[in-house]
Amino acid sequence: MSTYDVIVIGSGPGGYVAAIRCAQLGLKTACVEGRDTLGGTCLNVGCIPSKALLHASHMLHEAEHNFAEMGLKGKSPSVDWKQMLTYKQSTIDTNTKGIEFLFKKNKIDWLKGWGSIPEAGKVKVGDEVHEAKNIIIATGSEASSLPGVEVDEKVVVTSTGALELGKVPKKMVVIGAGVIGLELGSVYARLGSEVTVVEFLDAITPGMDPEVQKTFQRMLKKQGLEFIMGAAVQKTEATKTKAKVHYKLRKDDSEHVIDADVVLLATGRKPYHDGAGLDALGIEMTKRGQIAVDDHWATSVKGIYAIGDVIEGPMLAHKAEDEGMAVAEVIAGKHGHVNYGVIPGVIYTHPEVASVGETEATLKEAGRAYKVGKFSFMGNARAKAVFAGDGFVKIIVDKETDRILGAHIIGPGAGDLIHEVCVAMEFGASAQDLAMTCHAHPTYSEAVREAALACGDGPIHM
Ligand code: FAD
Ligand code: NAI
Repeated sequence: MSTYDVIVIGSGPGGYVAAIRCAQLGLKTACVEGRDTLGGTCLNVGCIPSKALLHASHMLHEAEHNFAEMGLKGKSPSVDWKQMLTYKQSTIDTNTKGIEFLFKKNKIDWLKGWGSIPEAGKVKVGDEVHEAKNIIIATGSEASSLPGVEVDEKVVVTSTGALELGKVPKKMVVIGAGVIGLELGSVYARLGSEVTVVEFLDAITPGMDPEVQKTFQRMLKKQGLEFIMGAAVQKTEATKTKAKVHYKLRKDDSEHVIDADVVLLATGRKPYHDGAGLDALGIEMTKRGQIAVDDHWATSVKGIYAIGDVIEGPMLAHKAEDEGMAVAEVIAGKHGHVNYGVIPGVIYTHPEVASVGETEATLKEAGRAYKVGKFSFMGNARAKAVFAGDGFVKIIVDKETDRILGAHIIGPGAGDLIHEVCVAMEFGASAQDLAMTCHAHPTYSEAVREAALACGDGPIHM
């Protein structure tokens, strides 16, 4: 039996970051992971492999649509799917091995196997029981199921199966126009699949700024994705090679069927804590099956903390990472903190979509007076030069104080641009502060400055 200051269960972005920070703060740390590789959902079957496929398929799209205009002539590349999967796997491998290296560097023990907590202060892995003054649960999430839809990860798949299909399907039906459905749907659309997205609501990407939703859907349609909106999927019927998706239109209850070679179920994710022994410990849970925690990520059982997808909040890798760092600091007697008001969300399609903070809808609901500054990428020289003038930056500020409350971007590099606004928000900056900051020319970030100028006396290039 070994004794540790901290044992982390789960090595996703929440768990591995918590382990590294604990070790950096002088705590003797171990991390339990049941998968063969470290890095959790994000590195193995989430963020990283999906971004590799998004990148590869975007390159193909550029070659097919924009090369000729730039004077780059020749045959467009064809898709070698097996090689694309090899490239995706090598991206995963370098990243998961990177975490293994960081564990060694920081003298963190990787306890290989599935862990459970037989009692507070103890973690069981296989036949061994280890003692820990503190335990951090970071066991993540799994794909939600949908009644009537049986996943076989071959014809009816979750994101995990969609990242390693045997071939590019001729026809793909995506259930759910959320982040996973649109990212992976656009990968396959670019690779040549006919992609139809069936969505329960009347707008894609719930919770997002409505102007961004509309623009985003228009752009995706232009890229070949088809949408059936306001449609509740009832069931799927699958053979070994094909499936039928039955759905009902909410407006008139009419029933329809659509055929597919592959169906991607992407209707959300739920917290995962199977086998960890939480029931016997009596750990308090929320109504939605998440582990309930206080402001310091402490559960209802002393010495046990929880972070990441398994607790409340957006299911995002960077949110889990921030909680990982913060909980380590709390355990080490410091002041760990996460500003939940400034957690950006990014969709890595082309163009990217990014948002942070309040939307007009949340502000209206709260009865707060606000002002909007908007700037189109059509006024940004760099964006136009790379065929990316479609899209905009929208900054929302407090009407009285000009303090930035939120930002919503659809356009080139949106996932990077959003961080300028995040930093400004962390410092309590006004739009004028952003507008008075010199921005290099020609960069996409000038569009952020112009949107900030639009909150005041007006943008220059519009
Ligand atoms: P996880 O990453 O889920 O890690 C939990 C780990 O715990 C797993 O490795 C699991 O094996 C292990 N585990 C569970 N139980 C036990 C046990 N009892 N014993 C031992 N080990 C255990 N987020 C983003 O921010 N950006 C993105 O681009 C993005 N893309 C995504 C794409 C896809 C297809 C998916 C599915 C998700 C994506 N996400 C993205 C979400 C992101 O992956 C999660 O928010 C993030 O991984 C959560 O981190 P976590 O540490 O809480 O849990
Ligand atoms: P989601 O919650 O983003 O979207 C699910 C969609 O399915 C919603 O639009 C919902 O209305 C729809 N839906 C639900 N039931 C339906 C039904 N019966 N018929 C038709 N549509 C239905 O969930 P998603 O895309 O599965 O992603 C899960 C999580 O993974 C997200 O919370 C996200 O944070 C995370 N993620 C993040 C990424 C990123 O940051 N770029 C990328 C991929 C995932």
